[in-house]
Amino acid sequence: VSPLRLGIAGLGTVGIGVVKIVQAHADLLAVRAGRPVVITAVSARDRSKNRDADLSAYAWETDPVALAVREDVDVLVELIGGHEGAARSAIEAALSAGKDVVTANKALLAHHGQTLAEMAESLGRVIRFEAAVAGGIPVIKTLTEGLAGNRIRRVMGVMNGTCNYILTRMESAGLPYDTVFEEARALGYLEADPTLDVGGIDAGHKLAILAAIAFGTRVSFDDVVLEGIGRVSIDDIRRAGDMGYRIKLLGVAQMTGRGLEQRMMPCLVPAASPLGQLEGGTNMVVLEGDAVGQVVLRGAGAGEGPTASAVMGDVLDLARGLRIPTFGQPAESLAYAQPAAVSAP
Ligand code: NDP
Ligand code: HSE
Repeated sequence: VSPLRLGIAGLGTVGIGVVKIVQAHADLLAVRAGRPVVITAVSARDRSKNRDADLSAYAWETDPVALAVREDVDVLVELIGGHEGAARSAIEAALSAGKDVVTANKALLAHHGQTLAEMAESLGRVIRFEAAVAGGIPVIKTLTEGLAGNRIRRVMGVMNGTCNYILTRMESAGLPYDTVFEEARALGYLEADPTLDVGGIDAGHKLAILAAIAFGTRVSFDDVVLEGIGRVSIDDIRRAGDMGYRIKLLGVAQMTGRGLEQRMMPCLVPAASPLGQLEGGTNMVVLEGDAVGQVVLRGAGAGEGPTASAVMGDVLDLARGLRIPTFGQPAESLAYAQPAAVSAP
């Protein structure tokens, strides 16, 4: 049986996590996929950097586009990041060269997911991106497979672990926002551009991707009404607590009479509810289907192992020949003809 040959572009936190899983679980993956899953080539900027995995068996390409078009690569696994530049070029090159793509790149998908999905569809290829939303939580698979028989009424959730860490730490330690922000920076939780986290942009990217899948619409990050956590004070948190609530950076997407509504902003959440009990850097996504009711998914939204786990779920699907597109499918097939009636959270 021919192996599925991966080219890994990006050898940072997530890329090295993927390398470790492929190496540690080679036997398991081969059994589950019905064929070996192997890495043939890798790419990053700096070849001399010390990395936490043995890469000596793989070909090296400094240019991710060169990696993407190699003949010994069947699937490009893009783990570079950024919504322009190298990541986008590598994905486009891979699709044009007849390869499928797995990516964790939420920023790229929120901005250009529709264009890339249409490009993939026109070339008969697929782009999979489970890791782009809520890290290790298999939320896209749940929506597209487990809940495929439902009309989705609403998706909501806490999708940025850093903001949830900051808000819960302000609450538990009674510390002001600025102090906890600096703590989060020292712990390495913040994105290189922290505005992506605390401005709600990263969570907004994830919501836009999820909403497009749930409601069969075009990905539209520009339509997400966004507010970050920078103006939440310790007094706000205390007053919310006195009333039995907690403040969460909550994303909600639902179909209304005016079309798709997407909001990502600090919200009061009942302290006793599943969302209200979410601590630290954890993520939670609540999916509401007309047949199933509420489904609550909770888990690690970031980090080497959890994010690589989600990437590998996509890789295994491709290895098994499951090439279900996620967005890029005809909107008519999922379109919502009527406003959805939604129940209170
Ligand atoms: P890192 O910053 O840790 O790693 C990025 C990697 O990409 C590095 O190996 C870097 O090379 C390489 N790289 C950067 N620019 C280029 C370039 N121009 N050409 C070639 N290689 C390049 O990122 P993460 O692993 O944290 O994230 C990867 C992706 O996963 C991003 O899209 C991120 O949003 C997403 N993601 C990350 C999560 C996490 O917990 N970290 C969670 C969910 C999604 P070098 O090492 O040589 O500098
Ligand atoms: N900065 C993101 C977070 C990383 O805190 O959730 C995972 O997407």
